[in-house]
Amino acid sequence: MNSVLEAIRTRRIARALTTEPIARPDFEEVLKAARWAPSAGNRRLHRFIAIQDPLTLRLLRMVTPGMFQRPVAIVVICIDRAKAASFGMLPNAKGLYVDVGTAAQTILLAAHSLGLGSGVVTSFSQAAVSAVLNLPDGLSPEMFVCLGHAAPVQPPGMPTRGHLTWQSLTQWERFPKMPENTPPTPAREVTSSRP
Ligand SMILES: Cc1cc2nc3c(=O)[nH]c(=O)nc-3n(C[C@H](O)[C@H](O)[C@H](O)COP(=O)(O)O)c2cc1C
Repeated sequence: MNSVLEAIRTRRIARALTTEPIARPDFEEVLKAARWAPSAGNRRLHRFIAIQDPLTLRLLRMVTPGMFQRPVAIVVICIDRAKAASFGMLPNAKGLYVDVGTAAQTILLAAHSLGLGSGVVTSFSQAAVSAVLNLPDGLSPEMFVCLGHAAPVQPPGMPTRGHLTWQSLTQWERFPKMPENTPPTPAREVTSSRP
């Protein structure tokens, strides 16, 4: 199998990371890769904030309930709202958000190719993150890509491809909102649509 397809297939969100720092050259490679992500109209309306400072990482984690891992680095993908407006784009223009996704996937794959663990997180308070990072007006934080070295946390034999294990699920996947008065269902294995 060619290496790109293999990387796409083997990349997984790492929700447990070790405390080992990532090498600066690797972090820079990941950031350089992000600049090659496809961008609507090639307008490049996104800014990437690279964080390795331990205190800032801890503060960000405190305002991010969806962050299960303790990353040693984070790339915050921001939309440059001021620049988008200068192109006459509406704040909810589709391309702005699609580009967050293309950037994130590019970073995830770059990290994976370097042997790093990574995970995206969107569950955070934008106001709190803006305050922690002292972001200028017009820059909105949209997604974190958490980076580090994946911890060997999965018990042997647990993570079979095509199956979602309890640990691989996010909180809202574990506890989906049920309609009122729904009778409890027996525990079952959850199978993804992946082969
Ligand atoms: C838009 C988006 C938001 C996500 N937000 C979170 C999040 O807040 N926390 C988290 O642990 N995972 C988050 N994820 C990761 C997904 O849960 C994960 O990709 C999915 O379970 C499939 O796992 P895999 O990427 O390892 O195959 C997010 C993924 C996407 C695409």
